[in-house]
Amino acid sequence: MRWNDKHASWNFDVRKGPIFVKWFEGATTNICYNALDRHIKAGRGDQVCFLWEGNEPSDAAEMTYQQVHDEVCRLSNYLRSQGVKKGDAVSIYMPMVCELPIAMLACARIGAVHSVVFGGFSAEALAGRIADCRAKVLLTSSGVMRGNKKIDLKGIADKGVELAAKEGHEVERVIVHEVKHAAPRADTKFFENRDVWWEDAVAGQSAEAEVEWVEADHPLFLLYTSGSTGKPKGVVHSTGGYMVYTYTTSKYVFNMSQGDVYWCTADCGWITGHSYLTYGPLLVGATQVVFEGVPTYPGADRCWQVVDKYKVKQFYTAPTAIRSLMRAGEMFVKEHARDSLRVLGSVGEPINPEAWRWYHDVVGDGKCPIVDTWWQTETGGHMITPLPNAWQQKPGSATLPFFGVVPVLVDDKNNELHGVAEGMLCIKQAWPSCLRTVYGDHERYQTNYFAPFPGYYFSGDGARRDADGYYWITGRVDDVINVSGHRIGTAEVESALVAHPKCAEAAVVGYEHPIKGQGIYAYVTLMEGVPYSEELRRELVASVRNTIGAFAAPDVIHWAPGLPKTRSGKIMRRVLRKIATKQEDELGDTSTLADPAVVQQLVELRGK
Ligand code: WT7
Repeated sequence: MRWNDKHASWNFDVRKGPIFVKWFEGATTNICYNALDRHIKAGRGDQVCFLWEGNEPSDAAEMTYQQVHDEVCRLSNYLRSQGVKKGDAVSIYMPMVCELPIAMLACARIGAVHSVVFGGFSAEALAGRIADCRAKVLLTSSGVMRGNKKIDLKGIADKGVELAAKEGHEVERVIVHEVKHAAPRADTKFFENRDVWWEDAVAGQSAEAEVEWVEADHPLFLLYTSGSTGKPKGVVHSTGGYMVYTYTTSKYVFNMSQGDVYWCTADCGWITGHSYLTYGPLLVGATQVVFEGVPTYPGADRCWQVVDKYKVKQFYTAPTAIRSLMRAGEMFVKEHARDSLRVLGSVGEPINPEAWRWYHDVVGDGKCPIVDTWWQTETGGHMITPLPNAWQQKPGSATLPFFGVVPVLVDDKNNELHGVAEGMLCIKQAWPSCLRTVYGDHERYQTNYFAPFPGYYFSGDGARRDADGYYWITGRVDDVINVSGHRIGTAEVESALVAHPKCAEAAVVGYEHPIKGQGIYAYVTLMEGVPYSEELRRELVASVRNTIGAFAAPDVIHWAPGLPKTRSGKIMRRVLRKIATKQEDELGDTSTLADPAVVQQLVELRGK
């Protein structure tokens, strides 16, 4: 039986009518109940749920399933007391403390829709996301230490709320979690009528809170993600299908059983932290490490020291982290036993075979399978991935589809390609954790994902299929770049650059970067008469940091008196990519360029 025959209804073909994906119609559930209460009812309340590992190796804490449940319930009760109801959006802007997944679970418990904004986003980016979903409540923290750097999260959150108000949306309540070791109460700015300390909010609340049973397709959360055009989209995931899928993939892809110690280094601000930290592993009943810090602080052996400390069985990280640890040298790995490790996961970007082998041979001592999981914010869970020990691995290939997933490769005329082929990676039938809509814009959902190749969901990636049917992801085919596993729209960076009063025009492309996978390469044309200067270069980078966040800061600013454009004014990014990588002798057909002289001009200005 195909699981969709019985439990789902969907149309994936825009030519046949609107796209609505539904799973488990008529059923009701609650994901927080299944992630927490179910284990407690089975007598596992005393099992450790979260092993919190702070930025400093000396900072650590534990919470059992019962303790997490109780804190979730207290917060649920407080949120209800503030008038948060089923279907209301709640924004969350927090660092990696246990209270972050707790806040998400509390929303889920009462049927509220959480919108987590990664703590590295700027005030402006936060404001846009708060205003778009009209969140009444924001949860944040007083501050955080990241490596040696102290980040004033509350200050950024305050600014975000202020900017959201300017966009016409007032946040009524800000719940502030005190991160004592980074930013104690006494040092934190506090707005009496709007702010409440988390501790005070939950004090006196009951440790029991009734579960809001929701229909299977009730929205669980929104998560904003970048596309090739326009503002970030609020990807909406539903409850039932997402729950079944994140549970199933956690169990089979990580070979995870109840009680296993599992560690995913992703931040809850991204989809990986939603599906493979907050939800999937808790549904399985794992004990997980929640890590506040960065993999290289205080030293390049931090990850392996933590693996040994907690006896981690499954470890899940991004190729960018693997590459930077590989560069530090294998002695940092060898200092630690790592004999608890069973499965090593990779996510977020293609893993190059060299990094794959290092991960496999050095970190895993050649005995742990690598699960190179291909998926996206939109897919909610793993789509193409090895199953550990079940089938032959190939370094650099995400291998084969997960149960029920039907990938296809299509050409630009929408023909399905068979056998050995390379094309656009699409999905042919709905899977349970497929995004249901784009928040507030169902039209955009259909045009973005279903209109480009009618009959299919289009991923935005290209891929190759080899003679064994294995898939090799070749990367994005649209104007999205993937920097250290963070997805960034070139259009967003361009608009942040153009916001600078001295910038007339900007064009951004990705280029191969040894650690980050891709780096951001920005061509900038200044206003007439404005001289180029190092100071201006710094100001332009700062403009991107302030508009999006530090992780989107361009690596290179290339001064461009003119940009290569077609006669109709379209920027030829293909040409810009070649110039960035010094491959201008492979430009291909440039006969459509309005002014072919700009190419030489740009080549001369490279590195200046
Ligand atoms: C894009 C999605 C998936 C959660 C984190 C990123 C790239 C992701 C792989 C992989 C090759 C990968 C794709 C995809 N990507 N995993 N294993 N091999 N590429 O989620 O921010 O939505 O980004 O990341 O290009 O489209 P995201």
